This record gives sequence, C-alpha cells and structure tokens, in this order.
Amino acid sequence: MLSNKDKKFLEKIINKLSKLDNFNKNTNYPLLEKGFTNEDIFSGAEVLLSKKITMSNITKKFEKAFAKYVGSKYALMVNSGSSANLLSSFALLNPKKKNRLKSGDTFVIPALCWSTSLWPFVQAGLKPKFLDVDIKTFCLDDKLIKKEKNIKAIVNLHILGNCSNILEIQKFAKKNRLFLIEDTCEALGSKYKSKFLGTFGDFGTYSFYYSHQITSGEGGMIVCKSKEDYELIHSMRAHGWDRGLAKNNKKNFNFINSGFNLRPLDLTAAIGLSQLKRLNKMIKIRAQNRKLIINALKNSKYWKDQFSFFEPNNNLNPSWFGFPILIDNKYLKFKQKYLNYLNSCGVETRPILSGNFLNQPSAKLYGFNKKNEKFKNSQDIEDRGFFIGLPTKEISFNTLKFLTEKLLKI
Ligand SMILES: Cc1ncc(COP(=O)(O)O)c(C=O)c1O
Repeated sequence: MLSNKDKKFLEKIINKLSKLDNFNKNTNYPLLEKGFTNEDIFSGAEVLLSKKITMSNITKKFEKAFAKYVGSKYALMVNSGSSANLLSSFALLNPKKKNRLKSGDTFVIPALCWSTSLWPFVQAGLKPKFLDVDIKTFCLDDKLIKKEKNIKAIVNLHILGNCSNILEIQKFAKKNRLFLIEDTCEALGSKYKSKFLGTFGDFGTYSFYYSHQITSGEGGMIVCKSKEDYELIHSMRAHGWDRGLAKNNKKNFNFINSGFNLRPLDLTAAIGLSQLKRLNKMIKIRAQNRKLIINALKNSKYWKDQFSFFEPNNNLNPSWFGFPILIDNKYLKFKQKYLNYLNSCGVETRPILSGNFLNQPSAKLYGFNKKNEKFKNSQDIEDRGFFIGLPTKEISFNTLKFLTEKLLKI
C-alpha cells in the first residue's frame, strides 16, 4: 500500500508530466477529458509496483463490487466491451449452453449500432436482421421487434445512456424463448424502473474504454444470472480452461471448452474499481451539466429551435456520457461547414455511434442490405446528428457561455 508520503511524491511526478503533455492543449471543449484522478493512478501504481499485473485477486474484487453495484448475480471482467460481446455471442452457440443457437440462426440488432456490437454475433455464425430505432431515444423500437417472427436472439443497444422499453423487450424475449443480449457499453449506471440496464437480459455487456461512464483505459464486464452461464464464459475467457472454477479441478491443465484469451489485467481492474466508487457522483454531475447546456441554449436570445436533443425514456434514470444534438432540417445543408467551424473553435464533435451502420463499407462488404432498406430514423440520426462531450466536472460559467455562443453560430 502506498503511504501518504508516497502519494505526495507521485503527485509531484503526475503534475510534472501533465505540464509536458499536449493532450487537449488546443481544445476548448473536448469530447474526452483525461479520465483518471490521482486516486485512480495510485490504485493502478500499487499493482504495477507489485510487479504482478496479470489477472488475479484485484480483478475478482472488481467483479464482486461491479456485480453488487448493478445488482447482478455474476460479473466477469474482460479486456474490452467488444470482448464482452464476443464472449456472449459465442456462448449462445456453445455445446454447454442450454437451448443453444445454431449457426445460421437470426438475431435482430438496431441499424444504428456499433461495429463490435454486430460483428461478434456474425463471427459466431449468426445472421443479422437490422431494425430501425426510435427517433426519440435512438434505441431499438420494441414495436418493430414484436413484428419479427423467425428470430432467435435480440442484441439490444442502450445508446449514450438511454434505452427503449426494455421491459417490453424482455417480456417478448421470454414469451418467444429468445436470447436477449444487452449491449450496455454506453449506459453503465442507467436505471430503468430502479433496475440497472444490463441486468434484464441473458447477458449484459459493459465497456470501460476511455470515453465511457467509467474508464480503466481498456476493459469490459459481462454480467449474467446463472451459474452455468458464468462458468461457461469464465472458461471461454481464458483458453477454455477450468482454472479458477470450483469444480473440474482434478487435473492441472484441464481444458473443458473452446476458448479465447480475453483476460483483463489486475492493473486495469484496480483503476476500474477506483472509478466505480465515483460513478454515482459522476452520473449526478453529468446530469447537471446536461441540464445547464440545454437551459443555456434555450434561454439564449439566439435560440430558434435550431436543435433537438434526445430525451430519456420515461421510466429511465439515465447515466449520460455524451451530449447528442440533432440539427433542424433547415440547417442541414450547412452541417459539414458548421462542424468544421466548431472544430476550428476547439469544440470537438463526433458522429452518433457510427451512424446507420448499413452505410459502412464493412456492411456493404458482407452484403447486409441487398434490398436497400432505408431505416429512416437511423439515417435521420446519421444525417442530422453529432455529439459533443459531457464532462464529469461541473461546467464553469465561462465554458458554458463559450459553448452556447459557438453552438448557436449555426
Ligand atoms: C455500443 C457499444 N458497444 C460496444 C463497444 C465496444 O467497447 P470497447 O471499445 O470497450 O471494445 C462500444 C465502444 O465504444 C460501443 O459504443
């Protein structure tokens, strides 16, 4: 354990290095802040200085704390959110999985999705059926899912902290014996009717990449309800080995299933654990900042309904991490020029997810939209949308004034 004296010494080094660092130097309103506090760094440094950074007891401690936080029976840490999706997808077809899927079975996924929300399921042998999203929440529209007849699984994304009617989706999945995967990589801490997103489905996946609600640099978590599922993903995470599992430990090197190496580091687990302790505080500040930005825009004398903002689902207590904006149609032809202007003023922007994924070269490579379906809302979000950062520290009056001034220059 680092003493207070050690921490003071490290603090001096951190301050010295940060003066030399050019990160965000030319940015007035960045998409990403430097995500680590000194406490996070001390937690990571303790592991590094112990000379034992590979997965061990601290990962277990973080998994326990995470499971307790989201109210899930089991949580397993992996090295990214993409890896969490990879594990959940291959688990669905594994011989150990009860009522497992077969290669060629169909799953639904929103057209507004992330690359590695989709690909793991395709790589596992499943066939995607894309559905449009709800324009208010940017998430899968449960009414559209309910029309689907020949599907075996739902990959539901909770986008930018928001969600659609997850209880209806869960009910439909149960009734029709569909597997439900909740990609919660963008929504850690959001609660739907007091239950955390990620805990409604068979598997819930989370990401601790740099830009998300908490960060360990890289990292992810997968939660599930049953011991069988937990043991399955546990062995698949590390070579198909039974090491670390209570049963089957008869032989030293015993490989009970197919597997990957998706192990995290104790180093990243220590940072993740440190961040988890601050999550509720960060959720609160981000919610306040979101309100401040919306109010400042709407109360400006230059406000003429230039933008709309997505709204949380009625039953959701959201945990935001970005601030998405949809430009009104009448300004659409200036969008690129406008984004260039914002970036030149140091207001960083980015697309919402990767837009309508069917427009991506990789989706074309795999011929996913041979019928040239339109996915109106996903396309609208791609055409009119962009997002800016939403900091975890209170926005100052000056920053708010600067930001609204620049945003309203449209
Ligand atoms: C919805 C969604 N799913 C999965 C991922 C992948 O997470 P990671 O970057 O930790 O692999 C991301 C990444 O941003 C994401 O936005």
